[in-house]
Amino acid sequence: MGQITLQDVQKSFGPVHIIKGADLEIADGSFVVFVGPSGCGKTTLLRLIAGLEDVSGGKILIDGKNVVDTPPAKRGLSMVFQSYALYPHMSVRGNIGFGLKMAGLSKDETNRKVEAAAATLNLTPYLDRKPRELSGGQRQRVAIGRAIVREPKAFLFDEPLSNLDAALRVQMRIEVTRLQKQLGTTAIYVTHDQVEAMTMADKIVVLNGGKIEQYGSPLELYERPANLFVAGFIGSPKMNLVTGENALQHGAATIGVRPEHLKIERDGAGGWQGTIAVAEHLGSDTFLYVDVGPLGMLTARYIGELSLHAGDHVSLQPDPARIHRFDAGGNALRS
Ligand SMILES: Nc1ncnc2c1ncn2[C@@H]1O[C@H](COP(=O)(O)OP(=O)(O)OP(=O)(O)O)[C@@H](O)[C@H]1O
Ligand SMILES: [Mg+2]
Repeated sequence: MGQITLQDVQKSFGPVHIIKGADLEIADGSFVVFVGPSGCGKTTLLRLIAGLEDVSGGKILIDGKNVVDTPPAKRGLSMVFQSYALYPHMSVRGNIGFGLKMAGLSKDETNRKVEAAAATLNLTPYLDRKPRELSGGQRQRVAIGRAIVREPKAFLFDEPLSNLDAALRVQMRIEVTRLQKQLGTTAIYVTHDQVEAMTMADKIVVLNGGKIEQYGSPLELYERPANLFVAGFIGSPKMNLVTGENALQHGAATIGVRPEHLKIERDGAGGWQGTIAVAEHLGSDTFLYVDVGPLGMLTARYIGELSLHAGDHVSLQPDPARIHRFDAGGNALRS
């Protein structure tokens, strides 16, 4: 079991209030991702759950038991960091099994668990190698192996893939997701990466300035952002936000349209008229940054190749069913 509940969790460092009342319900076996801008409190919240920091207020329940006074080693959680300090003089086998040996498990039992974890992580051929004889992705898998053998109630990951190159990140992203589903162990995963958040999470927590802005499934956040912050944060390229007369016509202070929900017409009439400032041709997608006079620069996305270039005149028609409306306070208006 690994159900984690936060109730009004607060954290201050000296006079500085960092986590401003976090309430969260993480279901057993689910994969929850924390996202938010640098400095918003993602690592702090993870460290509070792990017990590496003491809360300044509120409760953290693991399987219904308040653990705020329980030391980290007794909480039954395993943490995997961005910088996975492996012991350089120990083999992969030694690194994965280190914690078990310390916990007093027999040699046979330690070996059995280490070998099972290595098999799961495709590390069997490397068990007798030293960390310096491994690739970055293999080293990261050893760090994950060390977390798995402890059979925790939950894994806590803090940007575990951010030191890897782009291709390896994608591969590890898929492996971690698959592994978590296979083990059925609750996971909390901090990342800066939009794609990781959208693809790995059952639910995403969007943090901003120490507050939870929204908690929901990736598609809930994409389709029904609760406020302007979430609207601007989830989705890449960002949602276009338009204020003024155009928004008022829709009964809102601000309207938002995602780049993929703008229909692009060459020399078209109607919609928002503008001139392409920059056209990006990725093959799979075409991104247009269009100067729409008083509305500023709008981003439009076409799936596939569109033969349009800087200087071309286009009209952008928002899909009426995909317009997001926000009030003057930045909160979503639901019709
Ligand atoms: N030990 C500490 N003492 C004082 N302030 C701290 C301490 N740890 C973190 N902070 C502050 O708390 C805020 C949140 O930091 P945290 O590391 O949780 O951010 P983060 O969301 O993980 O950011 P990043 O994406 O850059 O890793 C920051 O303003 C940081 O400076
Ligand atoms: Mg951090």
